[in-house]
Amino acid sequence: MIFWRVKSLDTILATAEKRSLHRSLGVWQLTLLGVGAIIGTGIFVLTAEAAQKAGPGMMIAFIIAGFVCAVAALCYSELSSMVPVSGSAYTYSYAVLGEFVAWMVGWALILEYSVAASAVAVGWSGYFVGLLNNSLGIEIPFALANGPFAGGMINLPAVVICLLIVGLLVIGTRESAAFNAALVAVKIVALTAFIALALPVAELENFQPFLPLGTSGVVAAAASIFFAYVGFDAVSTAAEETKDPQRNIPLALIGSLAICTLFYLLVSAGVIGAIGAQPLTDASGRGLMPGSLALAERCQSLAALGQQPIVCSREALAHVLREIGWEKIGNLLGLAAFLALPSVILMMLFGQTRIFFVMSRDGLLPEVLSRIHARFKTPHIVTMITGIGVTFAAAFLPVGKLADISNSGTLFAFLVVALAVMILRIKDKDRDRPFKTPAVWVVGPLAIVGCITLFLFLPADAKLVFPIWTGIGLIVYFLYGYRKSHVALHIKTSAGGENLIEPIRPLADYRDGFKSLKQKD
Ligand code: ALA
Repeated sequence: MIFWRVKSLDTILATAEKRSLHRSLGVWQLTLLGVGAIIGTGIFVLTAEAAQKAGPGMMIAFIIAGFVCAVAALCYSELSSMVPVSGSAYTYSYAVLGEFVAWMVGWALILEYSVAASAVAVGWSGYFVGLLNNSLGIEIPFALANGPFAGGMINLPAVVICLLIVGLLVIGTRESAAFNAALVAVKIVALTAFIALALPVAELENFQPFLPLGTSGVVAAAASIFFAYVGFDAVSTAAEETKDPQRNIPLALIGSLAICTLFYLLVSAGVIGAIGAQPLTDASGRGLMPGSLALAERCQSLAALGQQPIVCSREALAHVLREIGWEKIGNLLGLAAFLALPSVILMMLFGQTRIFFVMSRDGLLPEVLSRIHARFKTPHIVTMITGIGVTFAAAFLPVGKLADISNSGTLFAFLVVALAVMILRIKDKDRDRPFKTPAVWVVGPLAIVGCITLFLFLPADAKLVFPIWTGIGLIVYFLYGYRKSHVALHIKTSAGGENLIEPIRPLADYRDGFKSLKQKD
């Protein structure tokens, strides 16, 4: 029953052609967009949190999270090369699992993109405040640089950066992508400099004990640090604006993920090797929870003694460089993060607005959202509405919580994509696949198991937000999208005016698919 209102791939492609966005992005631009969306608060800020959860074992956490993303990226690549239109996991689910699941995925993607944008804005705010303090001696009052959950009133720097980025997106993709490319370069130079300075002074004993909080600490760190990889799928959401998407999307997805994984491993080895990364524990030897009052108090008492372990730092990488004697370069790295993190906010918001755009084009959200600005050629209304929500969350919530909440939505979307790619192999096996997921019957299940495992290791509150958010989504769907859906209303969306919408197709199709697979075997 839940697999109703499946939209055929032909319909999706025809709809995209009819009301398409301008195709301007090539493979390098797209890979840069990917790297721009991926490298950000995760490595620059949340490395400290990963260290608190796993100690030096955070290197394994980076590998686990990177592996889950890699298998998901392989699934994404097949679908995005077959369905090179905007909307990412949402669009793929519509074609494979039907409207209901697609809606749930689209709704979960709001958590991924919007909340991630807020998280990065809050991470950026930390670097901004540190930079003003270290370089110019200007101190922003604590209450105005932290939301209520972090002990302040409002995070004003985060609010300002969100509003600036929204403005850029309203002006247009092309300008925004060029701006983004310059900032990606800044980020790559900063991380390369960090690796070049930190690795040579690395000491082997800093890697001992390697797993101070055991393997569960490592998996918990992987669940949080997964955030550092979020964003690669933003590449596929730009498919409708990409030249030769069949070739360029898979290349850019896998390329950007590979580049980032390499950087993360080298950076985390540098952090651990240079100054050590042991977690702070309570009297019984249990790790203090990142973001908890207990950890904050311990950090304060250590600071009073002139000590600042990595797990207490809000500018992890800049802190390491200062500690090993590169004070000025540390400040420059802070400047790089200050300049570059906005590119991540930009990509997250970009992905979000395109998903809303497609959902509205499908009638699941009000039509006004897919209106294109006459001069800028951008979906300006949805961009501004998304911007308000993102700014609001950034103003009041702390970075770690936002990152974990974002992860919960992302993991769900990845899981559905992995499922969709396998179902489509059965259901539509003759369709042309410019990119095929290698060993899909191994890679797909690995992605699913990986996503479920990481979800289970998220902190309890992040795990709770997801079902609540989904519940709200279901109410919205049944009050609006269920009745207004273009598929349901049989609106003609094909280029030729012919009605290509498929009637409700319940499980029978899938059973036939499985049968034919069995016969083939
Ligand atoms: N991966 C992005 C970051 O770490 C979201 O900021």
